[in-house]
Amino acid sequence: MALVFISLSLILGMSAALPQDMTGKMLVFPQETNTAHVRLTPSRQNLGAVTVCMRYFSDLTRPFTFFGLATPSYNNDFHIFKMPARDEINVDVRNIVLNFKGQDYQLNRWQSVCGTWDAASGLVQLWVDGKPSSMKFSTESNISGPMIIVLGQDQDSYGGSFDSGRSFVGMISDVHMWDYVLPPHHINNYRRKFTFPPGNVLNWNLIEFQIVGKVLIQEEQHL
Ligand SMILES: *[C@@H]1O[C@H](CO)[C@@H](O)[C@H](O)[C@H]1NC(C)=O
Repeated sequence: MALVFISLSLILGMSAALPQDMTGKMLVFPQETNTAHVRLTPSRQNLGAVTVCMRYFSDLTRPFTFFGLATPSYNNDFHIFKMPARDEINVDVRNIVLNFKGQDYQLNRWQSVCGTWDAASGLVQLWVDGKPSSMKFSTESNISGPMIIVLGQDQDSYGGSFDSGRSFVGMISDVHMWDYVLPPHHINNYRRKFTFPPGNVLNWNLIEFQIVGKVLIQEEQHL
């Protein structure tokens, strides 16, 4: 029975865009390329607020993309981007760039990153390992249009124009996305792996995605 289940998940894992339970699993991006990525296409076409949380492990010192959501009108409609400076991370909404300094990005350590924004206030906030940034104003305009989310590459155009110099190399896990601003105590619970409401746009416990190129699914390592 267990064997049947394992072979079945192997087969399912290789086919495109079937929802999978990724609990306890991570995505490994083992090479610097301008092709390998994970593509997610949520069915939502209009968002008045966003929270994205994910965990990552990397030794990259160059710029790279944590998370990129593009629509046909805006390649960086919701985009979390590591800047060349070690302590700077940008969050872009509708291509409006916000720079957050004093961020505690570490090499070779699992960390969590969350970005929040809502159109009602226009405010963006970044949380790295549970530490909040200043709130900064971006836009009061909803994110709208068919969405392509890419992990592992930076979309310079809708679904493409990747650059290996901005690709992600390392591991990613626990990707969740909500259509509201997650309150601070839930962001803290996410970081500590306590109870939080799973994402209602993307939920790592039942997530639909497509792997392109060399991206591998492995068990999380609990040390
Ligand atoms: C923006 O999003 C909110 C929340 O989803 C929605 O209630 C509102 O109608 C949207 N506004 C526009 C102009 O689409």
